[in-house]
Amino acid sequence: MLIMGIETSCDDSSVGIVSDGDVIANIVFTQKVHAEWGGVIPELASRDHIRTIIPTIDQAIKLAGITLKDLDSIAVCAGPGLLGSLLVGLCTGKAIARARNIPLVGVHHLEGHLFAGLTGSNIAPPFDALIVSGGHSHIYRVPEFGKYELLGKTRDDAAGEAFDKGAKAMGLPYPGGPSIERTAKGGNPRAFNFPRAMQTAGELDMSFSGLKTSLLNTLNAMTPAEVESRLADLCASYQEAIADALVWKLAEAAKRDDFGGKIVAVGGVVSNSTVREKIKNLCETNGWQYSLPGREYCTDNGAMIALAGEFRHKKGDFASWNITAVSRWPLETL
Ligand code: KG4
Ligand code: ZN
Repeated sequence: MLIMGIETSCDDSSVGIVSDGDVIANIVFTQKVHAEWGGVIPELASRDHIRTIIPTIDQAIKLAGITLKDLDSIAVCAGPGLLGSLLVGLCTGKAIARARNIPLVGVHHLEGHLFAGLTGSNIAPPFDALIVSGGHSHIYRVPEFGKYELLGKTRDDAAGEAFDKGAKAMGLPYPGGPSIERTAKGGNPRAFNFPRAMQTAGELDMSFSGLKTSLLNTLNAMTPAEVESRLADLCASYQEAIADALVWKLAEAAKRDDFGGKIVAVGGVVSNSTVREKIKNLCETNGWQYSLPGREYCTDNGAMIALAGEFRHKKGDFASWNITAVSRWPLETL
């Protein structure tokens, strides 16, 4: 079975092709237009998707060595995300599926992240899933594929958002996660004691806005020269606080498991080395099974949409021609 996945929910135009569960192409075009604004501007994002989606499809099919005629279905991310951006991918996918007379599958963005999290791993449900990206910091229990029980989520900023806002406050470029990770190299993660919020037993909701405020207060109490000379320490300590907060929540979720600790962690923030290292340590210390996808499958990509699309295709879960994009769509309603 050959499936093409199209992802345009935010600032990546991406197309992946999956053949019987194997990724044979995954082209990601990350938009540059947002860098000067320090965050994603929705209108610029949708315009850029229009410019790049067809060349991205062309590159993916070339790399896979196939033609559109070989495809069994088209999977498209239908939400949640930026409405204008989602519509570009959805209309493109719909047009190809209609023209080729093959089924269209509407994929939930987070279900895509989850399926990407299982590449190269043999973990099967039940497991706990941490999804941490620019818009989500959620922990789900996954009793079986396609069923998602929400255990906890952020009450304010997402972990990726905390990286992005923190970077902006320190004058580092967008996206903030990679900037902070780069700048933190050689810094002391214990130089500044930033807060780890909501650490009461059994509490699985999270909060990152206090951490951001604490960083702002710390920066305001320093001179620009001090900030510059201590940037590596600031970044290392801030990154450490986010990673600690996430891992504490994962540990708390896994404690409640009746299946002995099985963890899948996905989303852009999981490409962070400190986050990966801490999750790995937590799981290995406790003898838990875990899966961390390769970095190319952490941030948004088309292959994850094709992988989840294949699962939905096999269930016969096809979209109607009047499917539309949705900006808000809780995973637990699937
Ligand atoms: O999953 P993703 O590509 O898109 C969303 O669905 O939001 O995640 C993007 C988020 C951004 O907030 C970005 O700063 C963060 O993931 N991110 C990172 C790293 N790479 C991307 N955060 C920390 N360290 C990284 N290396
Ligand atoms: Zn994402």
